Amino acid sequence: MAIQQDLAREYSEDRNAKSQDTVYTTSNGAPYPHPYETQRAGNGPLLLQDFHLIDLLSHFDRERIPERVVHAKGSGAHGVYKTTESLEDLCMADIFKEGKECPITIRFSTVGGEAGSHDCARDPRGFSVKFRTEEGNWDMVANNTPVFFLRDPAKFPHFIHTQKRNPQNNLTHADDSTIFWDYLSQNPESIHQVMILMGDRGIPDGFRFMHGYSGHTFKLINKDGEWVYAQMHMKSKQGTKFITQADSASKSPDYAQKDLYEAIERGDHPGWDVSFQTIKAKEAEELWEKQKINIFDLTHVWPQKQFPLRKVGEFFLNENVQNYFAEIEQIAFSPSHLVPGIEPSADPVLQSRLFSYPDTHRHRVGTNYQQLPVNQPRVPYKMANFQRNGSMAFYNQGARPNYISSIEPISFRERSVDLDKTHKQFIGDAITFLSEIRPEDFNAPRALWEKVWDEDAKERFIGNVSGHMANCTEKEIIKRQIGIFREVSEDIASRLEKATGVKGYPGIAGLQFNGTHNGMTKDASL
Ligand code: HEM
Repeated sequence: MAIQQDLAREYSEDRNAKSQDTVYTTSNGAPYPHPYETQRAGNGPLLLQDFHLIDLLSHFDRERIPERVVHAKGSGAHGVYKTTESLEDLCMADIFKEGKECPITIRFSTVGGEAGSHDCARDPRGFSVKFRTEEGNWDMVANNTPVFFLRDPAKFPHFIHTQKRNPQNNLTHADDSTIFWDYLSQNPESIHQVMILMGDRGIPDGFRFMHGYSGHTFKLINKDGEWVYAQMHMKSKQGTKFITQADSASKSPDYAQKDLYEAIERGDHPGWDVSFQTIKAKEAEELWEKQKINIFDLTHVWPQKQFPLRKVGEFFLNENVQNYFAEIEQIAFSPSHLVPGIEPSADPVLQSRLFSYPDTHRHRVGTNYQQLPVNQPRVPYKMANFQRNGSMAFYNQGARPNYISSIEPISFRERSVDLDKTHKQFIGDAITFLSEIRPEDFNAPRALWEKVWDEDAKERFIGNVSGHMANCTEKEIIKRQIGIFREVSEDIASRLEKATGVKGYPGIAGLQFNGTHNGMTKDASL
């Protein structure tokens, strides 16, 4: 399987640019004798007429675009996806017909750090895939963990601010962990993700040895208009590998970038299996009624025993980028870039993300970000719409009318399924209180502690948490967080009390959280 990327239209020549047979020019194409030939009045000041110098400096002044507000540090490569087992019974997307292939681009990332930050941070990893299907680009913007810190989208900017630099001392939580634990100790629904983050799976060994999870629930719709809820899993064919806190200190800041690049260069192409968990609307209601798992709440997972993985395909990364900025920095992934047959669910965090990504792309890359070679759809039909003009409009659709014209009509593809049918959704009552803490929130973290981790893993976890808390300046915050850990297990709480020297709360009953309803306290109010 080796589809070499042909990143859209005229780009190929630029992408493969070589120095030989070229002529040095100004940006308007006029040959210029030498880059260092600055026009000057004798030994005196420079000349305003020197377009070459002014052009050079002004372009240099504008070389940076805003870095991503989250996931700023990342690495990527190109590859190919193939459907090995048809999913047509559940989904009408053309890409899920057996044997279908499409070119892909993947970007992996850390979350909290800036563009120059360390690849081995204790942080979740982003895992974004752009599938260039024949029905448009479909982006899966996933993470390496199946759960997330929150289920109320309004909390996202607050949470992220606690992962970034402190506004006063400009320190990150590696040196000043107060705001980090302040947020978490007020928002106990984060506990499952916190356990993963602080445990042995908190620092993946590069990007090749980690899985990817949609985390969110999506909807798959077949050609008869029937639909199921689905979560996507991308399982590394290399298996998983993680590094310890101690190991991470010895790695270079670009460890994961180097590892991925070099593996692809030597022909060791990393691959992932693509599978789905699916669940019918009726089963989703039962899952809520019986097990209190809401499929629109990404702080919880669907038990794999009840909802097994169904493999549909696989992908490999087989080509490094030629130009990092053009092909990775400018790539724009969004959970709202979907194709017919794949729809969002009512998950409130997903719903908010559908808006947030294209919004940030218009700011970070520009209004016409979809026209850039790496983002351009590669569809077999001629695209037409009424998006015209704006900054840097390269493909402005010629003389064609910019309204629905009866004189020169464009064609519309018939709707494949009845919208009425597919838009009817299960709206469980679990999300009326997006931030209510319930006993079920502690089940999965408790299973990690009691059933999954061995004694050494537990010790490393206690070391990671207490070490990180060491520079948290507020005792009250540590007391609260230990109270939250006590709901997971008395054992964790007492070990943390020993390691930190702080006596934690006996549990969360009686605690009030700033904006989170405590469903474990009778008559608790906000
Ligand atoms: C990147 C917003 C939750 C995965 C981003 C970016 C924004 C954002 C603004 C920068 C995009 C860019 O500049 O191109 C949000 C909001 C969230 C949220 C508002 C919740 C309300 C999540 C969740 C996941 C996730 C739950 C995973 C399941 C990612 C990934 C990237 C990213 C992988 C990097 C994309 C890339 O490689 O270009 N997010 N996010 N985010 N987000 Fe989120």
